[in-house]
Amino acid sequence: MEYLEIKGGRSLSGTVRISGAKNAALPILSATLLAGGGFEIDQVPDLQDVRILLRLLKELGVEVKDKGPSGLLLDSEKLESFEAPYDLVRRMRASVLVLGPLVARLGRARVSLPGGCAIGARPIDFHLKGLELMGAKLEIREGFVEARAKRLIGAHIYFDVPSVTGTENLMMAACLAKGKTVLENAAKEPEVVALGEMLREMGAGISGLGTGTIVVEGSRELRPVYCKIIPDRIEAGTYLMAAGAAGGELVIENCIPEHLETVIIKLKAAGLKIKEAGPGRIKVKKRGRLKSVDVKTQPYPGFPTDLQAQIMVLMATAGKLSVVTETIFENRFMHVAELKRLGADIRVEGRSAIVRGVKYLYGAPVMATDLRASACLVLAGLAARGTTLVQGLEHLDRGYEKMDEKLAALGARIRRVRQKGDISRDCT
Ligand code: EPU
Repeated sequence: MEYLEIKGGRSLSGTVRISGAKNAALPILSATLLAGGGFEIDQVPDLQDVRILLRLLKELGVEVKDKGPSGLLLDSEKLESFEAPYDLVRRMRASVLVLGPLVARLGRARVSLPGGCAIGARPIDFHLKGLELMGAKLEIREGFVEARAKRLIGAHIYFDVPSVTGTENLMMAACLAKGKTVLENAAKEPEVVALGEMLREMGAGISGLGTGTIVVEGSRELRPVYCKIIPDRIEAGTYLMAAGAAGGELVIENCIPEHLETVIIKLKAAGLKIKEAGPGRIKVKKRGRLKSVDVKTQPYPGFPTDLQAQIMVLMATAGKLSVVTETIFENRFMHVAELKRLGADIRVEGRSAIVRGVKYLYGAPVMATDLRASACLVLAGLAARGTTLVQGLEHLDRGYEKMDEKLAALGARIRRVRQKGDISRDCT
């Protein structure tokens, strides 16, 4: 097993470069299924989730070649399969993003149902209902959804709540459908906009990106394109908060500050000094103890659920009392019990965590249960006095490129240790 050993209490300084966004890379790579020919995708982050999706694309018949550091060449001219097997989907639920493109291009898809995950039930009913409205015949059998349609037809689709991958899946499907599709109450996340811009380049008529109503004019055929993945706003936000947890002064480079507006407003309210430092660069500095602020997660442009666990670390040692409310996923407080092992004073009441700031956290062995919880525990380790051992690194490696190396380069005392067996307690 592997774990991170973090000796806390060392402030950070220097410049950290943000990688391409995981949640933009996954739909963009899936979109290469929509057209035959050579795609060139740049700034692809080297992450476990991306590796799983590439494995799936290869199984479907996509040719994938490396093109220098973080560049990929993909060719889906000759698709050989329309099936996404359970073994890959269960490891990475965003594999469901191949459903829309496959049924749109091949008229047929068989995709394993992802099941629940650590942070919530996470159904995919919006994806399925949307495809049905577009004329696909769906059947659920042996844990798979099978979708068939000679050619999808445009439809008017309403999301009960905005869904990121739901919007992406249906937007991709609509690009090859006959006629116009309207997606109402669609997701506005920058990753959805990035995908939409790529689909436009490919020849689809798309308007309303970044608003709640996206209109897609389908075409018979799309063309392959070049695309550069946008920087990861969640990774950038995590490093802003790392400065808040450990103290010090950092420059975050290769980021898009507008994507972090709400996050920056909250962090400034908590007392961090944050300013733009040239194109694509933000400077962050911590002075003194942070102030408690309330946080409520919301779809974009609200405060992202993917940064809820990380900001809780800051609130755990802030001046007073804060209420952190999670409105997107019903079970995204698994990190609370681990933070309490480090001495945090947190009580969960329904969808809210009431966090009373303590003066210090103290290092201990902790267990990561999901991707963002793992980043939260790393930040807590930087803030804590003494040594924190973070287990469950398979979660961290799904979504953060070389986080331990990036933090070490900023002065953190952090190292990855490989060891046989469990280090401290039974975590099964
Ligand atoms: N929902 C449904 N039915 C559906 C789809 C969604 O009820 O068919 C509900 C969900 O249960 C949730 C809400 O709608 O309550 C929003 O979920 P959404 O569909 O937007 O989540 P997602 O598309 O599965 C993406 C990100 C997540 C991120 C969420 C919210 C990707 C690959 N994943 O998930 O990222 O938390 O949007 O912003 O884009 C992460 O990176 O750690 C991560 C979990």
